[in-house]
Amino acid sequence: VSTVDLTKARPPSTPSQTDALNVLFIVVDDLRTTLGCYEDKLVRSPNIDQLASRSLLFQNAFAQQAVCAPSRVSFLTGRRPDTTRLYDFNSYWRVHAGNFSTIPQYFKENGYVTMSVGKVFHPGISSNHSDDSPYSWSIPPYHPSSEKYENTKTCRGQDGELHANLLCPVDLVDVPEGTLPDKQSTEQAIHLLEKMKTSARPFFLAVGYHKPHIPFRYPKEFQKLYPLENITLAPDPHVSAGLPPVAYNPWMDIRQREDVQALNVSVPYGPIPADFQRKIRQSYFASVSYLDTQVGHLLSALDDLQLANSTIVAFTSDHGWSLGEHGEWAKYSNFDVATRVPLMFYVPGRTALLPKAGEKLFPYIDPFDSISEFKEPGGQAVEIVELVSLFPTLAGLAGLQVPPCCPVPSFHVELCREGQNLLKHFQFHDLEEDLDLHGNPRESIAYSQYPRPADSPQWNSDKPSLKDIKIMGYSIRTIDYRYTVWVGFNPEEFLANFSDIHAGELYFVDSDPLQDHNVYNDSQGGELPLSWMP
Ligand SMILES: *[C@@H]1O[C@H](CO)[C@@H](O)[C@H](O)[C@H]1NC(C)=O
Ligand SMILES: *[C@@H]1O[C@H](CO)[C@@H](O)[C@H](O)[C@H]1NC(C)=O
Ligand SMILES: *[C@@H]1O[C@H](CO)[C@@H](O)[C@H](O)[C@H]1NC(C)=O
Ligand SMILES: *[C@@H]1O[C@H](CO)[C@@H](O)[C@H](O)[C@H]1NC(C)=O
Ligand SMILES: *[C@@H]1O[C@H](CO)[C@@H](O)[C@H](O)[C@H]1NC(C)=O
Repeated sequence: VSTVDLTKARPPSTPSQTDALNVLFIVVDDLRTTLGCYEDKLVRSPNIDQLASRSLLFQNAFAQQAVCAPSRVSFLTGRRPDTTRLYDFNSYWRVHAGNFSTIPQYFKENGYVTMSVGKVFHPGISSNHSDDSPYSWSIPPYHPSSEKYENTKTCRGQDGELHANLLCPVDLVDVPEGTLPDKQSTEQAIHLLEKMKTSARPFFLAVGYHKPHIPFRYPKEFQKLYPLENITLAPDPHVSAGLPPVAYNPWMDIRQREDVQALNVSVPYGPIPADFQRKIRQSYFASVSYLDTQVGHLLSALDDLQLANSTIVAFTSDHGWSLGEHGEWAKYSNFDVATRVPLMFYVPGRTALLPKAGEKLFPYIDPFDSISEFKEPGGQAVEIVELVSLFPTLAGLAGLQVPPCCPVPSFHVELCREGQNLLKHFQFHDLEEDLDLHGNPRESIAYSQYPRPADSPQWNSDKPSLKDIKIMGYSIRTIDYRYTVWVGFNPEEFLANFSDIHAGELYFVDSDPLQDHNVYNDSQGGELPLSWMP
């Protein structure tokens, strides 16, 4: 459903310093597609839905590994985890794998002012404790001061005391500094937009929001949007019979929170008591609506500063989050609930008509004003796409030269791309299709992977360190099925042994959209591809 005749939009041009498009890149932490624009009927996300109504939305976008640092380093460098060699949190790709360029670095080298607000790179070793400064950013990255309280005892429990809980609805007058990290990030991002308004150079502003990542620390009024009696359990809240133990993630980070510890949930399979499952889901949804208000304030400022006619807005998340499906919580798996992400791009004059003088494309919508009209996405693409394609796509949309495809291997090549250029979805007809080695259009496949230290769930199955990895689950998602093989992996040589198969999973999208009926064993000897070759 396209509201705009995309074919009449202007073709890509090489930007001069004056007409180059800015980029506002919004990356959310642990946000699955529980949004109105992805047909979720419960969640209130009017501001993100409004962005979608001006954007091209990708229905089937997938992360390359469902955990923060590996996913972010992958899409920010445009390389897969097997090339960044980051499957945990403990190495910096420039010294450990190759000196790969990043998206912001590429924009910086092409004359952009590049700025980071909040969690864009994963902090710590994986970005050299500096968010990859100075390479990626023109000015020092901003981190909200109240971030340091996220994991401290700031949640008022039923006993009146402060705890480090999973569920953490707060009163802003009651929290340290009287604010929350995402509110501070929004304020800083708006401040930077104001400064850039008069800049002669285009900008690339990345804004990384923390919610709905755990703990669910959000202004408590957002709970009112989701009365507990309206919250259902996941449609498939049990560990399915055919699930290989290696595929299961035991959600240890959830168990470590004080309120969950008190439940004495059995390790590794649980379950969490049903009433507490509802509360987790309620707090996740409330966190999403709180996040939505932050996105709303940011986009409304873009409008007010009259930058909406010259700024691309890209919106995505590092990966999804299991809300009780298959008896699992958190990310750390290859299931769709963990790997599928929201992905949309607003491109001025292309995905929506240019705003007329004074017209607002993104007026702030209060999620508590219930009867706001839902707007359909501006355009939708159903083809399977991957986050690793962000690099070439953002470069192409901004009119920069799209980095060349990577050779295999590409550790010695600083600038190349392993993802596809998605510009064809924006109806740039003059672009070459991405072709495979035989010159055929590539089949649309998303590759994801997840490492494990053992065949059965144990304390470090969610986040094994590189040296402990013994098995890698390589997973492909096509429009029809998800197929995963768990194979032996040598972490010293970075070598997978595809003849050492520990387990397999196969789920068909039509008959089993939730991925509960593993038919891998029924399919042995069938016609499915066994190779892992992006
Ligand atoms: C890595 O890339 C950066 C940015 O281009 C460059 O400044 C640096 O010298 C490179 N380092 C090495 C070891 O090649
Ligand atoms: C990582 O940070 C350290 C400390 O600031 C610095 O000395 C080192 O050069 C950085 N590494 C790279 C590859 O830039
Ligand atoms: C809760 O569910 C009832 C019954 O479906 C519905 O009328 C009501 O609007 C819902 N409340 C909220 C806040 O969504
Ligand atoms: C959890 O276990 C502790 C220690 O065994 C016990 O005191 C407590 O009552 C248990 N709580 C629940 C909710 O079962
Ligand atoms: C955007 O709109 C403002 C206000 O109408 C106008 O001054 C500016 O020239 C426009 N920029 C572009 C790139 O169209």
